[in-house]
Formats: sequence, structure tokens, C-alpha cells
Amino acid sequence: MLTVNPPKRFLFGPGPTQVADRVYDAMRQPIVGHLDPYFFEVVQDIQKGLRTAYGTANDFTMAISGTGSAGMEAAITNFAEPGSKFLVFNAGYFADRMCDMGARHGAQVVRADKPWGEWFTDEEVREIILREQPATVGFVHAETSTGVLQDGTAICKAAHEIGALVIADCVTSLGALHIGVDEMGIDIAYSCTQKGMSCPPGLSPITVSPRAMDRLRARTSTPDIWYLDLKLLDTYYGQAHRYHHTAPITTFYALKEGLALMNEEGLDNRIARHLDMHKKFVAGVEALGLKMNVPDPSRRIPNLNTVVIPEGVDDLATRKQLLNEYGIEISGGFGPLAGKIFRVGIMGPLATEEKLAFFFDAFKKVLGK
Ligand SMILES: Cc1ncc(COP(=O)(O)O)c(C=O)c1O
Repeated sequence: MLTVNPPKRFLFGPGPTQVADRVYDAMRQPIVGHLDPYFFEVVQDIQKGLRTAYGTANDFTMAISGTGSAGMEAAITNFAEPGSKFLVFNAGYFADRMCDMGARHGAQVVRADKPWGEWFTDEEVREIILREQPATVGFVHAETSTGVLQDGTAICKAAHEIGALVIADCVTSLGALHIGVDEMGIDIAYSCTQKGMSCPPGLSPITVSPRAMDRLRARTSTPDIWYLDLKLLDTYYGQAHRYHHTAPITTFYALKEGLALMNEEGLDNRIARHLDMHKKFVAGVEALGLKMNVPDPSRRIPNLNTVVIPEGVDDLATRKQLLNEYGIEISGGFGPLAGKIFRVGIMGPLATEEKLAFFFDAFKKVLGK
């Protein structure tokens, strides 16, 4: 008899999101050793799938052990060297975390701050990058704390003009919306498995451009986290297959299956499905007389919707009722947006008309509409 018996939940929050049955089935398969040839076949399959999802030809593309924050820390400890200038475009909680990590690793962090919920224009990023002359630039593509999508094209263009590398947080975007790492010019992108990929948390997909790899190879100081040293990880997941750590085999199975589901649907179809459900979600919200937190539709993250909590509606009580009566999880805001917004993820297996109708049915009842 199993002792684990979790309640049935519909994960309409920012993540973890609903996991497909096939991914659960993959996780029930027997583990092999972390140096078994089969494991490396799985690793190679994952690398291929991730290149598609990220839109990149980068040879150095892999899933590393740990959640999205591990990807963030790997990017920062390998590419924002101690003493070097690390400029971060900051308008939310996760960009703030990038600044914190940069400072902990001894980089000279320069923050370009805006109030949470805003974004940087092409002119602003260009002016700031040319003025600050950083070695590395960081930005969050999909800022989960506010619901804002920050396009990185102008950031990458200006950064490359001065020889800087660009780190993009794609934790919420991968697998649900178009990233186009090569097209945008991102040098280092990291993500997670538990949002747009609809797998369980545990791995952080990362991809690194050839120019960033050149810079890493030329680096003389060692990154201060052994576990996330990408050159060492390359000796494990790359050609040499040398032991570095014991990879969490089951989560690799899950990601392989999640990527297979993505490929079967087709990335473009999957992105279109998320966009379609987002539009229907917004229409549903507006029909209830509610407002989206991000006023400009083109700046909204399609798979993570932030809705302004109307006057007289209790944030905690609403979320509690949704969870207790319908098994629906949504999230609230944090920092300056605490108590002001609901964060609703429409992702993976829940991004369907049927599941959206189920959500609105419950949401309306709880709001007394
Ligand atoms: C944009 C963004 N970056 C980083 C993280 C951190 O990822 P994790 O919680 O998987 O460590 C999150 C998590 O929600 C996120 O939304």
C-alpha cells in the first residue's frame, strides 16, 4: 500500500503545472545507472528536444540537475565573473533574484530598476547598455511575478555591439511560447521543467552560444560553485561521460517524455494553443468585469496571466475556496503586488477549452458572479 496519497489538484498556478499521464508513466520506469549508455541516450534525446524548444543550434544545450534557480545560478556563476560589471534589467521578483545572485558571486551588479509590472523599451535598453558598458547583461524574458513579457532583441543587439554577453531567464517561457534564442541573439538561456514543459520540477534546461563558450573557455578563475561549473558538467553530459554527480535519472525520463509530447504536437502548434487559450482567458476575465494587470496585450505572458483583484474580493479567501472546493490552485502576487493580483497559469494539459471552462465555472462561483 502506498503511503503517498496527494489530493487531486488542478494546477492553474505559475508552476508546477499539470503533468501529463505519459510523463508520470515514464517516471515509473526502472532507473539505470547514471553512467549507463541508456542514460546518455536519454540525455542526447533531451539535448535535441531542448534545441527545438529554445530555437537554437547551440551545441552546448543540456538539462542540469536542480530547479530554475540552479539554471540562474549556473548562468551567473559561470558568466558574471567576480569584479566584472553585470547589468540587470529589473522590474520584478526574479530579476531581483538575479541581482542578488550576481552580488553573492562577487560581480559588480548594476541594476536598471523599474517598478514591478513595467518593461524596458528598445531605446531605454540601448541607452543604458551603451552608458554602463557591462561585461554581462541579464534580463527576465517572462517575469512570472508581474505577468510581463520582456522582448530581448534590442538588449542582445546593444550588448553584442559592446562585446557583452546576454543571460536570459526563460523559466516561464520555455515550451509554451516562442523564444528563438538564436534569432534574438541570447547567449545563455536557462529554464525549468515545471512550467511550460509541464514536467515535474527538478531539472534546469540551459543553452549556451558558441561565443559564450569561448568566453567560458578563456576564463582563468574557477566559478565558485563546483556543482554548477559548466565546464565540469560538460565532461559528464558531453562526450567524455565522466562521473560528475549522480544525475536524477527519473526526472530525465520525465523530461524526455515531456519533450516527446511537445514534438508530437509540434512546437508551433503548442505555442498557438497556449496563445489561443490566453486570448480566451482574457476574454473570460473581461466578461466578468475584471482587468488584466498588464494593460498592453502585446506585453502579456500568454501562459501566465495576472489579473487585478477587484475591490472587495479577498485574495487569500478566494484562493483557499478554489483549492478546497474545486481542487484548483492559483497563486497570489508577492512583493508590491501582494494582495493585488491573482496569477493564473494556463499551461500544458490544462491549456484546453474544456479545462478553461472548468476553471471559469469555479472562478465565477467563488467570486459570486
Ligand atoms: C522567471 C523565474 N525565474 C526563476 C524562477 C526560479 O525557479 P525555481 O523555483 O524552479 O527554482 C522562477 C520560479 O517561479 C521564475 O518564475
